[in-house]
Amino acid sequence: MGSLRYYCYILECADGTYYTGWTTDPSRRIRQHNQGWGARYTRMHTPVRLVYWEEVADRSAALKREFQLKTYSHQRKAKIVELGTPRALAAVPQASWLVTAPGRVNLLGEHVDYNGGAVLPAAIDRFVQAAAVPAADSVHEIQALDLGETVRFSDASLEEKKDAQGNPLPAWARYPAGVAWAALQRSLPVVPLKVAFSSTIPAGAGLSSSAAIVVAFGLAWKAAGRWKLDDMSLAQLCLRAEREYVGLNCGLMDQFACLFGREGHALFFDTAALSWEALPIPDGLSLVVADSGIRHSLTHSGYNERRSECEEALVLLQRVIDPAPTSLADITPEKLYRVLSVLPEILQKRARHVVEECARVKLGVELLRKGNVKGFGNLMEAGHASLRDLYEVSLPQLDYLVEAAAQVSGCLGARLTGGGFGGCTINLVESSRVEAFASQLIEKYRQQFGLNVEVLTCKPAGGAQVVNLS
Ligand code: GLA
Repeated sequence: MGSLRYYCYILECADGTYYTGWTTDPSRRIRQHNQGWGARYTRMHTPVRLVYWEEVADRSAALKREFQLKTYSHQRKAKIVELGTPRALAAVPQASWLVTAPGRVNLLGEHVDYNGGAVLPAAIDRFVQAAAVPAADSVHEIQALDLGETVRFSDASLEEKKDAQGNPLPAWARYPAGVAWAALQRSLPVVPLKVAFSSTIPAGAGLSSSAAIVVAFGLAWKAAGRWKLDDMSLAQLCLRAEREYVGLNCGLMDQFACLFGREGHALFFDTAALSWEALPIPDGLSLVVADSGIRHSLTHSGYNERRSECEEALVLLQRVIDPAPTSLADITPEKLYRVLSVLPEILQKRARHVVEECARVKLGVELLRKGNVKGFGNLMEAGHASLRDLYEVSLPQLDYLVEAAAQVSGCLGARLTGGGFGGCTINLVESSRVEAFASQLIEKYRQQFGLNVEVLTCKPAGGAQVVNLS
């Protein structure tokens, strides 16, 4: 992989003027300027500070956008800087690192990642951003800008999930604290950091806001401690934080999608082999998220219960299938149907969902490759019906959103996305019809429930990244 990424940027020079440019490596570019190379070339006043950047598609887009930025007045650039500078960076202006970590949607393959199955998520252009600098003492200081709360904890207080004063860590702080804890479990150096973070991923909505937080902190500590850890191992470390520290017994899909996202692509990820492939989302299609506004708390919901039910079903099936399957994803639907009666009714439903959903992912990937988006959309609908009737993680509001979406022209498929028990649906919509689709869905939902549904058009985004600012 490792393909180049292109950025346009604005630097603030020591005399208050702006300099705009493009680069594939913002940190190297700032170093060059501050060490004189760029300054000689551009005659700018150093030191310079990176105050704004945006990722662009390729070199030619970078050249065009740079040209455009250069034509802007100082005031206009100042406005871009003001609006575009991540809040996190404004809160820690001396930051050494700025991390951006995306949320995700899942197109197909729900509740199969902890059953050894393959999934089909895409990272989206909603992000956690965290600005970090080494702390002055040995205490971590984490500021949640969206909540207006700050927590301080030390390595010693982590084990007991307490802050530096001995109070229990608030729920939100357990995510970053969990990452520090998981790193210490692996004997990785956890440099004390002062971090401010904010997020544009709605929380508790099934868009993986928590994985984006753990990944953002994982990357910050990785940069600060110079860990030699590849992205898959980092995803696993972050998973450990969520499972063992926060207490949600989740699979690897979300942390993976956050780190491995690719612009314009969905990710076909085999959670057993840890192998993956980026699949282009066909042209002319948009990912549209409809947020029911109902919030889950997965830790307290039926998520862990569903997982235990799957484990129970597997044990019973291992007794009657030869050779014994190592996971539910190992079992084909035909094999399962032959022995289904050994399971109690509830477990029959759970096992059927997992096994049939795994088959849907395989077929869905073939259809996507052939450009058969209609067929793919039908699989999304079938996946939703299964989450509703067999896995029982849907809600009437989500069912309604899926049914209503199917009646709007231009929508090829809809289903709930993420763990369920609230949250969002993901809709595959013809790009030319997105606006009409959104307004019709909003209207239908209001008529049915008297409530607002928020509709977000998302772009499949690149994976989490760190920009080195020092
Ligand atoms: C949550 C979990 C994931 C996955 C999905 C359901 O997002 O974090 O690991 O299990 O639910 O597919």
